[in-house]
Amino acid sequence: MRILAIETSCDETAIAVLECDGAETEASFRILGNGLHSQSALHATYGGVFPSLAKRAHADNIVPMLTLALHDANMLVPGTVTLPSACGEFLAREHELQSALSEFLASYARPDIDHIAVTYGPGLEPALWVGVNFARALSLAWNIPLVGINHMEGHFIAGLGAPDTEGVIHVRAAELPILGLLISGGHTELDLMKEWLVYEELGATRDDAVGEAFDKVARMMDLPYPGGPEISRLAEQARSEGIEGGFDLPRPMLTSGDFDFSFSGLKTAVRYALETHGLLGEEEKMRLARAFEDTVTEVLWKKTQRALEVTEAQRLVIGGGVSANKNIARVFQEKCTQDFPHITLSIPERSLTTDNAVMIGMAGYFRARRGETVDPHTLSANGTLSLA
Ligand code: KG4
Ligand code: ZN
Repeated sequence: MRILAIETSCDETAIAVLECDGAETEASFRILGNGLHSQSALHATYGGVFPSLAKRAHADNIVPMLTLALHDANMLVPGTVTLPSACGEFLAREHELQSALSEFLASYARPDIDHIAVTYGPGLEPALWVGVNFARALSLAWNIPLVGINHMEGHFIAGLGAPDTEGVIHVRAAELPILGLLISGGHTELDLMKEWLVYEELGATRDDAVGEAFDKVARMMDLPYPGGPEISRLAEQARSEGIEGGFDLPRPMLTSGDFDFSFSGLKTAVRYALETHGLLGEEEKMRLARAFEDTVTEVLWKKTQRALEVTEAQRLVIGGGVSANKNIARVFQEKCTQDFPHITLSIPERSLTTDNAVMIGMAGYFRARRGETVDPHTLSANGTLSLA
């Protein structure tokens, strides 16, 4: 089955074409085309994603990403498709996008695609709508069935995949239940996949998401956006130079007895520490970055550890942008090997940790196989969509 996947929930405009095969317990995904445009430079001055700018940038970049992905997949064949009149309604407020799409359709034939998968939540609603409306228009214009995908399911499924030497991603998921720690810029949650694609939310953040905490702390330390990789780089440097201590940060919710998280208190503690210390030198920045990263890692592990103890989880998957963090991966690997030797730990390969369309296509395949298509006339974006 060939899937065209579309992702615009935050600040990445991404479109991928996948050749998908196999069953739920063992599936494979060959990436035929992959277009990804990151808006991080655009949002850098704000230290976070600015929704109206994100929406406009998605509208500007989505046709170029479609062209790129189809070109990579050798599916850009000259021809003509007319944009059905119903699509005018979806794109009515997006004149430039509408004319870019009409021009694209007037130039190329319908590609050999079986399903279109699009992220319809959670995320920034204005950003989500660009992808959703674009997908609805393509679905009608090409007469290709549409599947709506939860962005967090994309992160979960991507974490279950492992690429072979040819880059084909294999998902083997015989062992259920699977515990998922989903950590991104917008979300922090522990979910249990009890049956294939059926989730129970065990806990979530009560305030800031982990990635958001990384980004906000980085901003306080005058580090560029997105802050996660910057803090991580400084913390790794501190470890390699044996620099530690000096900042005593609170471990929020460690003893709360539930699976919820809270990171805003930690962020405030960093603010106070910065006010007390005044301007930080390079070494102090490394020290603070390490203290912050170690604290976050410990909190994430302690909650996950308890969830592994009380559920029958056979496997642990970490997904979302923050799963790119080397320290979290290292500590989780060590602790799992030591305390839960029967549990397999899965972390996505680097390119699938942060937002991308490949993960949406992977989840799209599993949903499409079940015949879970949606009506392109009625699909809407849902910024607060949950997994459970
Ligand atoms: O999943 P994602 O791309 O977007 C959302 O769905 O939110 O996650 C982006 C987040 C940002 O907050 C970014 O700072 C964080 O992931 N991130 C990291 C690292 N790489 C990206 N956080 C910590 N360490 C990293 N290496
Ligand atoms: Zn994400």
